[in-house]
Amino acid sequence: MDAAGWDERYRGSELVWKAAPNRFVGEELADLKPTGRAVDLAAGEGRNAVWLAERGWEVDAVDFSAVALEKAERLASDRDVRLRTVRADLTLWAPPEATYDLVLIAYLHLPWPDMAQVLPRAATAVREGGTLLLVGHDAANPEHGHGGPQDPRVLYTAEQVAGLWRPYADILRAETVTRAVTDGDGYSRTALDALVRAVRR
Ligand SMILES: C[S@@+](CC[C@H](N)C(=O)[O-])C[C@H]1O[C@@H](n2cnc3c(N)ncnc32)[C@H](O)[C@@H]1O
Repeated sequence: MDAAGWDERYRGSELVWKAAPNRFVGEELADLKPTGRAVDLAAGEGRNAVWLAERGWEVDAVDFSAVALEKAERLASDRDVRLRTVRADLTLWAPPEATYDLVLIAYLHLPWPDMAQVLPRAATAVREGGTLLLVGHDAANPEHGHGGPQDPRVLYTAEQVAGLWRPYADILRAETVTRAVTDGDGYSRTALDALVRAVRR
């Protein structure tokens, strides 16, 4: 979906995603000491970026949807924290190198050739010793899980992501994880996510 499509989606409802951080973002990063600057690539309405800012990180929230970033700024203001929003298309824009102590990518799904450009740029944006975290819908999710994009061209495995980060970082976790979700009829289902955590060398 292009930026106009995302703008339309975000305009349509109060919050498309919830205001609380993604479960894995919370679990993985709650104990990470806020040591400086973080960047949330494809930050959307800012649920994760605002949570990081509340924990003491200085956060840049990047997305190509202006509507999403307006909502992220509103969420930040409601929670009394500051975000620096950057409107940019991640297929064209590169974050500055060796600048961040934490890079987060949550549920960014682009055709794999585009992801294969975005992911190394995300890795080089991190300073030595900094953390990289990606969470996304796993390639196995359409068949064995629930929800998320169904087009296999925009899905990936943790190992595919780890393969692109390995030249720059030590991989701490690269696995498929499960997330409890509720379907449209109120039934409990299980979604499969890819989770990769790494430390920049
Ligand atoms: C599923 S949402 C996830 C939002 C947020 N990370 C979260 O977990 O709540 C995907 C986000 O990716 C953004 N996005 C998709 N393609 C993009 C691109 N090429 N450049 C920048 N942002 C993009 C969309 O605007 C959308 O906000």
